[in-house]
Amino acid sequence: MSIAFVLGTRPELIKTAPVMHELARRGEPFEIVHTGQHYTSSLDGTFFRELDLPPPRINLRIGSLPPAHQVAAMLAGLADTFTAAKPDAIVVQGDTNSVLAGALAAHKLGIPVAHLEAGLRSDDWTMPEEGNRVLAGRLAAVHFCPTVLQRERLRAEGIVRGVYVVGNTVVDACLALAQRATVSSTVRSTVDIEKEPFALVTLHRASNVDTAPRLEQLLDALVSFSRSLALKLVFPVHPRTRDKIRAFHLESQLARPEFRILEPVGYRDMLALMRHATLVLTDSGGAQEEACILHVPCVTLRPNTERPETVTVGANVLCESTDPAQLLEAARSVMARPRHWPNPFGDGRTSARVVDVLTGTNTRWQPSGHA
Ligand code: UD1
Ligand code: UDP
Repeated sequence: MSIAFVLGTRPELIKTAPVMHELARRGEPFEIVHTGQHYTSSLDGTFFRELDLPPPRINLRIGSLPPAHQVAAMLAGLADTFTAAKPDAIVVQGDTNSVLAGALAAHKLGIPVAHLEAGLRSDDWTMPEEGNRVLAGRLAAVHFCPTVLQRERLRAEGIVRGVYVVGNTVVDACLALAQRATVSSTVRSTVDIEKEPFALVTLHRASNVDTAPRLEQLLDALVSFSRSLALKLVFPVHPRTRDKIRAFHLESQLARPEFRILEPVGYRDMLALMRHATLVLTDSGGAQEEACILHVPCVTLRPNTERPETVTVGANVLCESTDPAQLLEAARSVMARPRHWPNPFGDGRTSARVVDVLTGTNTRWQPSGHA
């Protein structure tokens, strides 16, 4: 079976890499179809090199467009690519616009879709990713759920066939590199991760960075927080956030001494930073999972999460508020807990289970995932 991985962004590269490595190990053919949603080298090329991924069969170079135009352009480009390449199946991962376009293009051409990280739900329809997840779930024939929670969410939506609880490939990715992760000289020249206590910050959700008042209040709250706990804020800034900071004239906020500002870092650097951080402050999905896996307390700067397991095991606390006192309270509560919560996302062998299913070792492909 020839499998095409349709992907476009940093987390999709990180989380599909272990599956591709497992296919390669078994001598199974696959190829990458890149939408070009992410194109800046620190979000894209860095990860191809670091994760040792083969070059894509094609990069559609769609780039940054208004969301509907971006999905439309991807849809057309992917339909042409699938028509020429005739993959037997496609794999998508997560909840980005590339996932929606990939699943929809394949569905239109009658090509079965396997969805990694299926069944996650925030129940927050203001989030662009929620629509992408739900629609990809409707279109997919095979659903790889990280935990039983997602299987139950899919069941509640009438999706019961082709559903596999396999863990999350982020564990495979993270464990493969975490112990060997050493920081690069660039990061080392910015922060002494062994000596200087710090919180690792990432921010890129539309709800946090796309409006000036919210972004400004968040940056202010982070600075107050840093002063209260004498923790520096190591902040690799996502290009979306960098662009918004520039557009809203907030550069002086980042120049404050509490921040150690970095360009987006590679995965080894990220894991090394995380392992040494006192705390993670984030709105990233992947960072919530990795903090949980690496036993680093996490505050998620959102009102909800599609990763509630991280909260249930005690690794993560939600904080939507930009009131410094509430942020401090959230951080103190999670930092006070013993750091030996169980990892809900699996044993690091998720990619082997996924490949068993994809190659039919485990079961046959189902024609439809719906009851
Ligand atoms: C996208 C995903 C989000 C995912 C994130 C991972 C959607 C709706 N959003 O968000 O779910 O968590 O990727 O990082 O699919 N930009 C660059 N260089 C790039 C890419 C983006 O400068 O390589 C800037 C551009 O200003 C662009 C903005 O970032 O307009 C947003 O990019 P986009 O891909 O639309 O969304 P992300 O915020 O990256
Ligand atoms: N990440 C990284 N370098 C950074 C920031 C994040 O390698 O500078 C990794 C992070 O460890 C996680 C993934 O990127 O594996 C998360 O990506 P992002 O936050 O962009 O997307 P999300 O997970 O929210 O969809």
